[in-house]
Amino acid sequence: MTLSKRVDGGTDIETDDEAVWQSVLCCPRCHGPLRAAAELRCDSCSTAYPIDNGIPRFVPRDNYAEGFGYQWNQHRLTQLDSHSGMPISRDRLMNASGWSAAELTGKTVLECGSGAGRFTEVLCETGAQVTSVDISSAVHANAASNGHFPRLRLVQASIYALPFPEESFDFLFCCGVIQHTPDVEKTFKTLFRYLRPGGRFCIDVYAAIVAYPHPRQLLRPITKHVPPAKLYALVEKAVPKLLPLSMKLSAVPWAGQCLARLIPVANHRYLGVTDRETARSWSVLDTFDWLSPRYEKPQTRRRLERWTQELALREVSIERHRGLYVIRGVK
Ligand SMILES: C[S@@+](CC[C@H](N)C(=O)[O-])C[C@H]1O[C@@H](n2cnc3c(N)ncnc32)[C@H](O)[C@@H]1O
Repeated sequence: MTLSKRVDGGTDIETDDEAVWQSVLCCPRCHGPLRAAAELRCDSCSTAYPIDNGIPRFVPRDNYAEGFGYQWNQHRLTQLDSHSGMPISRDRLMNASGWSAAELTGKTVLECGSGAGRFTEVLCETGAQVTSVDISSAVHANAASNGHFPRLRLVQASIYALPFPEESFDFLFCCGVIQHTPDVEKTFKTLFRYLRPGGRFCIDVYAAIVAYPHPRQLLRPITKHVPPAKLYALVEKAVPKLLPLSMKLSAVPWAGQCLARLIPVANHRYLGVTDRETARSWSVLDTFDWLSPRYEKPQTRRRLERWTQELALREVSIERHRGLYVIRGVK
């Protein structure tokens, strides 16, 4: 048996045989074994799950992350290191996690909320067996870019109901995601069900900094209700007007970063993204990413400490990286 192999753009995904897929996937409802044909069907509870363009889908096509699906299919390549020519995603993953390529080689990695696959690419390049999950149609963008990696498996599923046996992965990576879910504590705790005891994790989350709110918070109550295509068109129009001003302000010595925050447009000067077209494209993507998500729930350090203690996680470190907390350690 093979899963359908063609994905958007005609890329071939490496074929897996039935035994391999069945050892990885199980029914998210009852954990029964899945039988594959034109769709996946649970042997125990008979629930059927479609296979869309080669990717098993365990969630309804319409869900709260529609805006993410839209943004990542518009910007399939923008943030991939192989496209930008800059090791921005690689540096962020390696700095945040503290992992080395050598320790990931040959290990199983669960990546949750993979978006267009900027981190999927980095993880696959280490030689790890990567399983990447996203609740949105972004999985198709990821497949089109990373489907050539023979050890990548992609599924469209929610962290709240993953089609994997518990405690089956060596590494867990989830960055840029949990603040955008309806119940951040539940999301955080659910992720650990899939990591084996002794497995390593790296998760980040927006830091709740009450004294330092961002002006996008004034716009979000309105913009999060605007249909994605309409909002995207507005952002595309606004960025060429606002970004040059933001760039000028951010170049002011000492106060630059604070001044630039007054303009509600994403500015990646701090990453060295200065080429005009690249800066515009990253800005459109991230300004949309600020304004469109249904949920945005930053977290306090104290709350994160409590959750890690309740889960009895070991070797935990919680570090501030700009506006994020990066939580890593061992289960
Ligand atoms: C801001 S994007 C980050 C994507 C990627 N990690 C990155 O940093 O480029 C957040 C992603 O989380 C996904 N997501 C949100 N809720 C999810 C859930 N319950 N299960 C799986 N993915 C989810 C969204 O669809 C979106 O692609």
